[in-house]
Amino acid sequence: MHKLSLFLLFQFFFCWGISLGQSKVTLGVDSAEVIISKHIYGHFAEHLGRCIYDGIYVGEDNKTVAHTNGVRNDVIEALKKLNIPNLRWPGGCFADTYHWKDGIGPKAERPSIVNNWWGGVTEDNSFGTHDFLNMCELLGTEPYLAGNIGSGEVQELADWVQYVNFDGKSPMSDLRRENGRDKPWKVKFWGVGNEAWGCGGNMLPEYYADLYRKYATFMADWDNSGGLFRIASGANVDDYNWTETLMKKIPKNLVSGVALHHYANVQWNKKGSATKYSDEEYFKTMKSAWRMEELVAKHSAIMDKYDPQKRIALVVDEWGGWYEVEEGTNPGFLYQQNTMRDAMIAGVTLNVFNNHAERVRMANLAQTVNVLQAVILTEKDRMLLTPTYHVMEMYKVHQDAKLIPVKIESVDFVYGEEKLPAVSSSASLDKEGKLHISLVNIDDTKSNKVDIDLGRKDLKLAQARILRSDNLRDYNSFDKPDLIQPSILKDLEVNSGQLSLTLPPFSVVVLELN
Ligand code: AHR
Repeated sequence: MHKLSLFLLFQFFFCWGISLGQSKVTLGVDSAEVIISKHIYGHFAEHLGRCIYDGIYVGEDNKTVAHTNGVRNDVIEALKKLNIPNLRWPGGCFADTYHWKDGIGPKAERPSIVNNWWGGVTEDNSFGTHDFLNMCELLGTEPYLAGNIGSGEVQELADWVQYVNFDGKSPMSDLRRENGRDKPWKVKFWGVGNEAWGCGGNMLPEYYADLYRKYATFMADWDNSGGLFRIASGANVDDYNWTETLMKKIPKNLVSGVALHHYANVQWNKKGSATKYSDEEYFKTMKSAWRMEELVAKHSAIMDKYDPQKRIALVVDEWGGWYEVEEGTNPGFLYQQNTMRDAMIAGVTLNVFNNHAERVRMANLAQTVNVLQAVILTEKDRMLLTPTYHVMEMYKVHQDAKLIPVKIESVDFVYGEEKLPAVSSSASLDKEGKLHISLVNIDDTKSNKVDIDLGRKDLKLAQARILRSDNLRDYNSFDKPDLIQPSILKDLEVNSGQLSLTLPPFSVVVLELN
């Protein structure tokens, strides 16, 4: 028997399980037109638990962790490697309680704020507008500021825009200069409130649409670049009436994006442990993650009715897995570990976004450090990268590349009477002509063989990377921070435009061809 076949057989029987399904992925290379916006790969950092304070920001006087202006150097370095395109701040629910003027000027003189959404802790406002925007410059990422329309006034938000964006002489730009920053930061992305249907004010969609019109009107484009990208607070999961109302009532010239929030979990009121979950809980979480496909399709269809040219983006500015907090941690801090289940959520969700790139042009994983489906966890001077980090890093090849439509015929991932597609995929062609295919097998019991029809005969495999682990519930801990990390998948061959590979159970693979 040929050496390669023997190798594959060995992998199949002894390493990755004994049950093999057959799936097919067909690439429409000739139809690659739409760009996958890099902004789909955005992140979210809220004043919540240990995300900002003690996660990203340790303070200028900290002597135990290396930092730049109080921001951890190790976190900066790790985030830079993800090429994060945008970062949403300061919330979330916190945004509609946040008064930005309390976070500027000498730190010792800043008033405090009680973070009543998240743990009831008193914050000293030492991480404010300058700190965040300067950090974005360090990261090479675009800031996405979420404005307060729940408890803040129109003038307050209008002033914030002027403070950060106006180059000329004005009360707010003078104040900015007094605080040590001459040139404006030119912030493009602005959220007009957050979850207005809930923590942002418990509003009805009609009321929010009116309020949106008013606030958006006074958020002037101070540098006249035509560049303000205003994002309306979007629907909670499947509240299609919310999207319909906003699309109907908000004039197109006032809005560039409409948001959507959806978290993957077992059950909203019974979220279960982040690490000790049953097989049933795993299946339910995958079902919830796959639901993103339906949500994006249905919200997009409503948007299509009012905006057939797709000028308005669907912005999924909160997504990720949400479980119970780790034992012994503050329930309001939403600190959770991150296993291979989270890698599956990330892989499937990003494939959904890529495949809907025409309408989904921005998204934000919740949240960056120490909160929910974090890419980074910190503990004193230690830091680790989660499996989710590695998926984001592997998938960064799709940023601003041309989407290649894929036809996926997947075997089923079966649990009891229920089933889901086991294999998810997306593909793109970058500016240098490199073709990337990302594949996920969410089945935790079966390897799945995938036959890929590349649609071109001239392609050669340049690299194949895989993220897998021996156990689904594995995670990177502070004692074993590198247990899960990408490795090279060897011995794959392309034969006249055809490539076959075996995806181990609960694995993510990214192929590069040119
Ligand atoms: O990401 C955590 C919280 O989830 C956000 O603050 C809120 O917008 C959402 O409900």
